[in-house]
Amino acid sequence: MSDTKEHELEADIWSEWLLNGRHGRDPDYKPIMRAAVAQIRDRVLDGARLTSGMRLLDVGAGDGLISFEALRRVKPPFSVVLSDISTPLLKHAESVAAALGFHGQCSFVQTPAQTLAGIANESVDVITSRAVLAYVDDKPSALRSFSRVLKPGGRVSLADPIGQDAAVHLAALTKVLRSEPVNSSTPFVSLLQRWRALQTPSTLDEIRSNPLTNFSERDLVQLFRDADFVNIHMELHIDVKTAPPIPWSTFIEIPPRPGALCLREIFEQHFTAVEISVFERVMREDVEKGKLTSQNLNVYLTAEKRA
Ligand SMILES: C[S@@+](CC[C@H](N)C(=O)[O-])C[C@H]1O[C@@H](n2cnc3c(N)ncnc32)[C@H](O)[C@@H]1O
Repeated sequence: MSDTKEHELEADIWSEWLLNGRHGRDPDYKPIMRAAVAQIRDRVLDGARLTSGMRLLDVGAGDGLISFEALRRVKPPFSVVLSDISTPLLKHAESVAAALGFHGQCSFVQTPAQTLAGIANESVDVITSRAVLAYVDDKPSALRSFSRVLKPGGRVSLADPIGQDAAVHLAALTKVLRSEPVNSSTPFVSLLQRWRALQTPSTLDEIRSNPLTNFSERDLVQLFRDADFVNIHMELHIDVKTAPPIPWSTFIEIPPRPGALCLREIFEQHFTAVEISVFERVMREDVEKGKLTSQNLNVYLTAEKRA
């Protein structure tokens, strides 16, 4: 993975979101977003209990958020396998590893979490993963692969967003709005529902068929039990926070996740000029003055392969 230059690689939904979309291409917003993600990264790494001499596999490593902090934390000998399905992200991570002086301690494997093909049986001490399993359709296969590549007694530490609760609330709102005609007091609620439904599953059928919403934190524990992991510990963190002030021009460029539409695209493709102005009149000041409240659910899970 070394002779194609980064700018020659076509972006995919994963690289586009991780490298640009999640901060709306706004360099001033990037450090604010990074600081929020770093808190999750640090909790995952604390759960991994890394020590010198280990080999870590970071599944769905992305731009190397977890891998490079692990390399900063642990003295050599210590090595990291960065695995991902995204070629542009693996290339990007490889160039960052070289710039940080970590290249000799890293290897890069393009492989899905469901198989981890190319990673030998019982070859890693620890697996970390953040915001990856949630996107994987066949979670049981991924966990069987985790178990296959871990050494006996090896550890998993991961974090994933739990999207089910918000989607169920949206589905309830969708049902109400479908059964009652929109009246003059509900135009904004209706726009809110349409905005969210263009980004998130909004019916029970969609919730059941989408890997992001068809599992709860308790299901994740059961999946690890089914894959014969032991010493499983799960914590659900619910954070209700006031969002920092964000320029409207940045806010409308941020999709909630890879592959999702941003608000600007929703405006362009799905809203009329009148609807955009109603929406903006209600939302813009709250966004720019930092008055929006967000509720995030994250599951943290650690587990061990039987010794
Ligand atoms: C939301 S990003 C998280 C990236 C990184 N773990 C982080 O914390 O910044 C999801 C990552 O998972 C990767 N990914 C998506 N589906 C995958 C799969 N089935 N197997 C392995 N990686 C996958 C994407 O390419 C992307 O790098």
